[in-house]
Amino acid sequence: MGHQRHGAWAQNTTTPTPGEGLHSLFVASGKLFFGTAIDTNNFNDVAYQAIAKNGSEFGLYVPENSQKWGPTEPTEGSFVFANPDAVDAQARASTQMFRCHALTWHSQLPQFVTTTAWTRETLTAAIQAHITALVQHYAGACYSWDVVNEALNDNGTFRDSVFFRVLGTDFLPISFAAAAAADPGAKLYYNDFNLETLRAKADGAARVVQIIRAGGARVDGLGFQAHFVVGGTPSQASLTATLSRFVAMDLEVTLSELDIAHNAVPAATSALQQQARDYVAAVGACLAVPRCVGITVWQFSDKYSWIPGTFPGKGEACLFSANFTRKPAYGAVVDLLRSAAGRRLRR
Ligand code: G3I
Repeated sequence: MGHQRHGAWAQNTTTPTPGEGLHSLFVASGKLFFGTAIDTNNFNDVAYQAIAKNGSEFGLYVPENSQKWGPTEPTEGSFVFANPDAVDAQARASTQMFRCHALTWHSQLPQFVTTTAWTRETLTAAIQAHITALVQHYAGACYSWDVVNEALNDNGTFRDSVFFRVLGTDFLPISFAAAAAADPGAKLYYNDFNLETLRAKADGAARVVQIIRAGGARVDGLGFQAHFVVGGTPSQASLTATLSRFVAMDLEVTLSELDIAHNAVPAATSALQQQARDYVAAVGACLAVPRCVGITVWQFSDKYSWIPGTFPGKGEACLFSANFTRKPAYGAVVDLLRSAAGRRLRR
């Protein structure tokens, strides 16, 4: 494909893009990226794009949906890359990094994966064929891949999926080994939600890492999705401790899908202030952990957040409002990053 890793990180420089956006300030604080989920269905929104293309604000894109198994391999063996290619191209044009999402996941699967009567051998071959095609197509472009996504139940046991039913936990090393072979330079992540608040689920994620390694495969990072609720966000201290637990397993970590939803909308002024404190706790935890490499928000504007569609009545989870004004949480995060960047300069 001739893809090349891109963004400031690929140029091996920590010089922030001029301006004082989230990404520039996060880089000045010692991190690799402050990124956002985005997809081609957002591309004709001019006001949205003006912010999305501002490399000072966002230094990395992850395709919100178009790189998943269903959209990329709708029928077995035939691949559709137009939409994620367009996200990659826009990232490249505005010098952003690209994070890739997601390979082995129980959701958004094509029909053939859920309906075929698989054996161990045929499902292994199908996983390997899918991962090899995707990771090879984007070889060199992806900073990281979410190789396995959401394999756990909240109590830390393995989720009932076609992968677990047919292969037990072997689908973990099978997936990671296939990804490593197809792009040795991409960081390989396990990505899940509620690891930040549920100890049993975090224990499960530690087992996932051990199983991948025991199977002879490489795992480089843990993605904490960080889908939080206003007033229910873990404290900075607690989140710092959870991230550090996985760094101690020789992993890098990231907040991979950060958003903080209000339980009732429109949010009252006091709730907007609480949301700001919650964002500061989450971003502060990443700042406090040197191997927390960056943060990705799961869309930056309430206009395109997934939350109201899934949890009717809840939402306004993003840093920008639906009409793209900066919310109190945005200002609070920028203030935090300004002082973190200033402290680093003075050291
Ligand atoms: O593409 C179809 C479109 O053709 C159809 O007209 C429309 C009608 O409903 O649906 C469209 O598909 C939707 C798709 O997003 C693309 O917009 C699906 O219904 C909808 O369920 C899907 O939701 C996505 C969800 O993953 C699927 O599980 C969200 O946008 C996306 O934000 C969300 O992202 C996940 C991460 O990948 C993993 N972690 C959790 C996170 C939030 O659920």
